[in-house]
Amino acid sequence: MRIDVVSIFPSYFDGLKLSLLGKAQDAGILELAAHDLRGWTHDRHRTVDDTPYGGGAGMVMKPEPWGLAIDELAAASDRPTIIFPSPAGELFTQKTARELAGLEHLIFGCGRYEGIDERVFEYAASLGQVRLISLGDYVLNGGEVATMAMIEAIGRLIPGVVGNPESLVEESHEDGLLEYPSYTKPSVWRDRQVPDVLLSGNHAVIAAWRREQQFERTRSRRPDLLPADDAEG
Ligand code: ADE
Repeated sequence: MRIDVVSIFPSYFDGLKLSLLGKAQDAGILELAAHDLRGWTHDRHRTVDDTPYGGGAGMVMKPEPWGLAIDELAAASDRPTIIFPSPAGELFTQKTARELAGLEHLIFGCGRYEGIDERVFEYAASLGQVRLISLGDYVLNGGEVATMAMIEAIGRLIPGVVGNPESLVEESHEDGLLEYPSYTKPSVWRDRQVPDVLLSGNHAVIAAWRREQQFERTRSRRPDLLPADDAEG
């Protein structure tokens, strides 16, 4: 998979050279490049923003550098998916991550200030599939941190990135429930005992206990994830 990111702070993405995603890049499974939006400006001040038409607080990102950036990066593949992180977008979930992990080429456009001139989204739709995606119902200072979170969630689903693919199956959100609690040695730590069932060696009983824990946690912490009937119980 190829991922291009456009940002006025490309060095944010240096962190993605670490750990599993760094290894995936070394292995050629993932090709990740962060580009400076100002590289597509042509004035002395490398201007990327201006005052909003119609008035109001803050600045809006100018369309010209975005147009040039998208033209150049979108030309590298047939029909890329162009993602703009935005608190006004559709909600990012594990399902979104799975969908995006199956694609060949993603371009992330990180807005700052009060956002990007709306015409950029319309234009981008002529070159690829456009998605405005929100990380959650809160406001960040720009799209960079949201993009990093999305790249990490997507990247670990690309085959070969996580060493043991089985570890992906039993995680929170993969089956619509939160993950069961995990324990390791020692069996007693600061007077706290690991649940007996996990020491029983009975795999069927352990599996049933873990399933029940998943429901219990989901009911108490995230009832919104359950169908209405289960959430009441
Ligand atoms: N940019 C600012 N806030 C954001 C959010 N909640 N999700 C995605 N991008 C954002």
